[in-house]
Amino acid sequence: MSQNEQKQAVARAAADYVARHLPEGAILGVGTGSTANFFIDALAALRGRLGGAVASSEATRRRLEAIGVPTLDLNAVERLAIYVDGADEIDPQLRMIKGGGGALTREKIVAAASDVFVCIADDSKRVERLGRFPLPIEVIPMAARQIGRQLAALGGEAELRQGFVTDNGNPILDVRHLVIDDPVALETALNQMPGVVACGLFALRPADVLMRA
Ligand code: 5RP
Repeated sequence: MSQNEQKQAVARAAADYVARHLPEGAILGVGTGSTANFFIDALAALRGRLGGAVASSEATRRRLEAIGVPTLDLNAVERLAIYVDGADEIDPQLRMIKGGGGALTREKIVAAASDVFVCIADDSKRVERLGRFPLPIEVIPMAARQIGRQLAALGGEAELRQGFVTDNGNPILDVRHLVIDDPVALETALNQMPGVVACGLFALRPADVLMRA
């Protein structure tokens, strides 16, 4: 199976999971990226059963609306039963690196509001240890250089993502060469750097289910 076929297969499996587990009329959380786009395609068949969706990016919101799934602001929702999203890397404890598509902050917010995080990742995303994929970090613009220096002290090499701003209007630093021995400790440390909006480590709130094709 090609990578795209795998993405499509896990996306369809996730749509089946939603059909079996999401109560009729409930609101679904939907992630961002090419695998999430396949999931949205597969959701079209379920749109009558959904009360609506909370999107983790403007791109996802537009795509959901285009297939007739109404989208809601997260402020209008108490909890989401299920959130479905892709990953750039996922380890055996279902901790992830996310944010290759730049939506990490909203993804983290929606994940935190969800009871079950279903990760849809093709085989190439499965790793024994996180850290080969550059870690995306969304930052407040004026803090970018300061944060870059703090990351260098941790052994990381931060590069500003060129020509890109997030849906929140901020830049992203992509950080190579970080040794991620303890993902929870690193996520906690990064969260404490002034000017970090969110980092792409999802270890404090990992996935609950890794969907297989
Ligand atoms: C976007 C993400 C995506 O889930 C991640 O980049 C995987 O993308 P794709 O499904 O296109 O491989 O975190 O911010």
